[in-house]
Amino acid sequence: MPTSFMYFTLICFPTFGQTSLPLVINTWSFKNATAAAWEVLQSGGSALDAVEKGCERCQEEQCDGSVGYGGSPDESGETTLDALIMDGNTMEVGAVADLKRIKNAIGVARAVMERTEHTMLVGESATLFAENMGFVTEDLTTVNSLDIFTQWLKGSCQPNYRKNVFPNPSKSCRPYKPIAKLGPEKKLHTNVHSHDTIGMIAFDRYGHIAAGTSTNGLTHKIPGRVGDSPIVGAGAYADSTAGAAAATGDGDVMMRFLPSFLAVEMMRAGTDPSAACKMAISRIKRHYADFFGAIICANATGHYGAACNKVPGLLQFHYMVSNCESDTPLLKSVECF
Ligand SMILES: *[C@@H]1O[C@H](CO)[C@@H](O)[C@H](O)[C@H]1NC(C)=O
Ligand SMILES: *[C@@H]1O[C@H](CO)[C@@H](O)[C@H](O)[C@H]1NC(C)=O
Repeated sequence: MPTSFMYFTLICFPTFGQTSLPLVINTWSFKNATAAAWEVLQSGGSALDAVEKGCERCQEEQCDGSVGYGGSPDESGETTLDALIMDGNTMEVGAVADLKRIKNAIGVARAVMERTEHTMLVGESATLFAENMGFVTEDLTTVNSLDIFTQWLKGSCQPNYRKNVFPNPSKSCRPYKPIAKLGPEKKLHTNVHSHDTIGMIAFDRYGHIAAGTSTNGLTHKIPGRVGDSPIVGAGAYADSTAGAAAATGDGDVMMRFLPSFLAVEMMRAGTDPSAACKMAISRIKRHYADFFGAIICANATGHYGAACNKVPGLLQFHYMVSNCESDTPLLKSVECF
């Protein structure tokens, strides 16, 4: 028997009650990331390795400028990274936030999981940990990120995420001081390409699930800002007995509702993956009708779905799927509601 055929039957043999496993799903049309994760699974690698390699690919490719080095400079012009990885069999989690001068955020997140008793490390201390674990430190600034930063400074630091400060943040740059009287809630700036976090779910052929995220956060964020991506239950969640989910969008708002955890719990209770995704979006919508966000969900048997909140910049949400039914990653889309 030719080895390639043996290989295929070994990896892609259908199992009763399950969709074809292994399976990779990720947010947005980050096709090369899907392919990288799929390659790991096809060669018999673990779901955890698949998520790590998939997210790493996006970091290297700087997917949409929202993942990896040289994107989303903060108020001081620096790119900082957030990432998370979760093992749905052991419930172990590793995360890094506000990681500086290290390109491979998902790799450091995995090191936090595997080489410490902790769950999350942040800032300069996370960088020091990464250096000790053999990761290389380098400047994450590129010509492009420097240009975004310079243009922003020239344009009086617009937009920014300040409120209730003096001088007026919608006209002036920092430094700011607090003003005595708090004003009304400031409207969010919806910028479609400032939110394209990669969130990925991978199933190996035994139904072992892992999930992960990687992002450089929000362009012009206040230094120290951490979004939803590295927060377990917000950016992603995985439990091999129930399913997994990963979210993308206005992290500052979404993290208040732990949408990934909520969706997984709905699926545990028997809710269909698409309906579970919708419920997680609906919960946020109730309070923030025009938030920008989407979520992907897969239950324990590998059935999957997605949902997104319909706003002017997001009518349809694209995500990628790889399984034994196709040689190349499939682009899927869902209508937002
Ligand atoms: C995806 O990978 C191919 C082959 O390596 C490469 O040519 C292409 O530029 C990549 N796509 C992106 C968006 O980086
Ligand atoms: C996963 O969802 C599908 C589609 O709704 C359903 O048929 C299947 O029973 C679900 N699996 C589990 C373990 O709940």
